[in-house]
Amino acid sequence: MPALLPLVCTDPARHAEAAGLAARYGLPVLADIDALYGTYWLRLDATGLALLGRGADAPGPVQVDWTGGALGHRLRFGGGRGQPLARAIGLKGGACPAVADLTAGLGRDACVLAALGCRVTLVERSPVVCALLDDGIARAAADTGIGSWVRERVQLVHADGSAWLQAAAQQAQAAPAQRPEVIYLDPMYPHREQSALVKKEMRAFRAVVGDDLDADALLAPALAVALRRVVVKRPKGAPPLAGRAPSHVIASPNTRYDVYVTLAGA
Ligand SMILES: C[S@@+](CC[C@H](N)C(=O)[O-])C[C@H]1O[C@@H](n2cnc3c(N)ncnc32)[C@H](O)[C@@H]1O
Repeated sequence: MPALLPLVCTDPARHAEAAGLAARYGLPVLADIDALYGTYWLRLDATGLALLGRGADAPGPVQVDWTGGALGHRLRFGGGRGQPLARAIGLKGGACPAVADLTAGLGRDACVLAALGCRVTLVERSPVVCALLDDGIARAAADTGIGSWVRERVQLVHADGSAWLQAAAQQAQAAPAQRPEVIYLDPMYPHREQSALVKKEMRAFRAVVGDDLDADALLAPALAVALRRVVVKRPKGAPPLAGRAPSHVIASPNTRYDVYVTLAGA
């Protein structure tokens, strides 16, 4: 699967936006859907940017949606600061650590953490996924309900997590106190999602990003940089990242959060 997918803008009012996204992420823009090639494509219409497949049984659309759907439900009923993700990150008492999410994906975990008060830097290496995030975060930032905390707490970076960690390690030498407090990793793992609906969405997403076979290499540099902890999301039963045992584990029915407390403290 090529890393870059063609983008078609079907909303005449949004051609400038399409050109901006294409320039930022190196995406080829096609004049209309008749010019499409390949299995997957990106569409910008009045609802925003979406990843779609082509053909009768095509998977998609996949969109970053922080305001409605499953994520809206998770924000309202997901358990607040008591939910396993929040406990794993260290949202104890009034603490709201700054989080660097180095495998941002569709930004669902990042959105939950930002909604709970954390400043979150989302780092994503796939240009297609980063374009989806860019569009979804812009829509969320303009939303009258959640826009204020999105604008205040959320930052998107198009980079590889390893390169980002290298730069953070260099900055940490000059300003040790400004190291990221918590680093969060949720790399792709084979066959992690079960429901039919999610499977269909994940089919398109997985086809675009592939399996993160280099994920083990993120752990050691993340541990060297994180001020407080590194948290790794794993499916239940999966081995720990890089075969390294965590300090402790927070488990939920299908997911496990491996927590690595760094020398600087919890
Ligand atoms: C399973 S998804 C993350 C899902 C995310 N936690 C969410 O809540 O939507 C994994 C994502 O991490 C990205 N990724 C994997 N390794 C990366 C790396 N080294 N640097 C940046 N992004 C990476 C992949 O492109 C993919 O989009």
